[in-house]
Amino acid sequence: MKLKVLVTREIFEDILDYLAGHFEVSANQSDIPMDPQTLAKNLTNKSGVMTTLMDRVDAALLSACPTLKAVCNIAVGFNNIDLNACSRAKIMVTNTPGVLDDSTADFTWALIMATARRVVESDTHLRSGHWKGWYLKQFLGADVHHATLGILGFGRIGRKVARRASGFDMTVLYHSTRQADPDVERACNATYVSKDALLTRADILTIHVPYAPSTHHIIGRPELAMMKPGAILINAARGGVVDDAALVEALTSGRIAGAGLDVFENEPALNPALITMKNVVLTPHIASSSAATRHAMAMLAARNLVAALTTGKPPNLINPEPSGDGSGQ
Ligand code: GLV
Repeated sequence: MKLKVLVTREIFEDILDYLAGHFEVSANQSDIPMDPQTLAKNLTNKSGVMTTLMDRVDAALLSACPTLKAVCNIAVGFNNIDLNACSRAKIMVTNTPGVLDDSTADFTWALIMATARRVVESDTHLRSGHWKGWYLKQFLGADVHHATLGILGFGRIGRKVARRASGFDMTVLYHSTRQADPDVERACNATYVSKDALLTRADILTIHVPYAPSTHHIIGRPELAMMKPGAILINAARGGVVDDAALVEALTSGRIAGAGLDVFENEPALNPALITMKNVVLTPHIASSSAATRHAMAMLAARNLVAALTTGKPPNLINPEPSGDGSGQ
């Protein structure tokens, strides 16, 4: 008899076919997000689940799902999952690292360019019929070339963002919990600086840290106050690493010039002030969303699920000792 698994949101048909070769699959191709009660109900008798970052996997859910053995998130981030609770319940947890780095770095650059050069604002102006012709001082933006790019968090994605800066002749600074090896710094043409130096020197500050208690509001009121007047903030990492209320204040007061945001503190809800601001570019958490990359993420999560339930050794296990304390991340 095949084990039963659940896929909580719509995925590509070929991946459902692949899963069906191994399991009895319950899918949610209607793509209606499940509230915790519905998720728990749908997990009855399931051995595994493919989740997205909108599914909360916590102790309460796990206590209602005693048959669950594997949670495979279709995301590199996993702050929607209580790892310790999973480890205590001997549940394997996996994520999808690597496959989304280039697409996310590309999109970070889309936000940088759109924000600095006012692409969305001028597009809206034109579509609304207000364009009367060429003006010397129309939509004056900030140059990206030869500017100083500050990268907070220098993992796989931060490094790819840095490498893309070389075509713009930028000075690239970064800050991270650990300084990268000299060969990595050379390849990225990036210089390690303190967090304070990063904040005070960057014309464009882009964040690439995972969300964790230690990175909650890593950019808050004090950090925004240190940023260069006229600087731009980019966040395609996770909501909660920026204090959105403090950001609204800094944008309103003109302390910083603009922001490009793909993620938000209480998404899908937005701080209402952000919506009214012309100097802000807002996108709905789509940095990894190229067709190829989202397929690769879903396929990697599916492979993790198959490996977890057939061999007990999924390639992207985040809690290596599921029976331990979950500190293996
Ligand atoms: C997307 O936000 C991810 O973590 O993969």
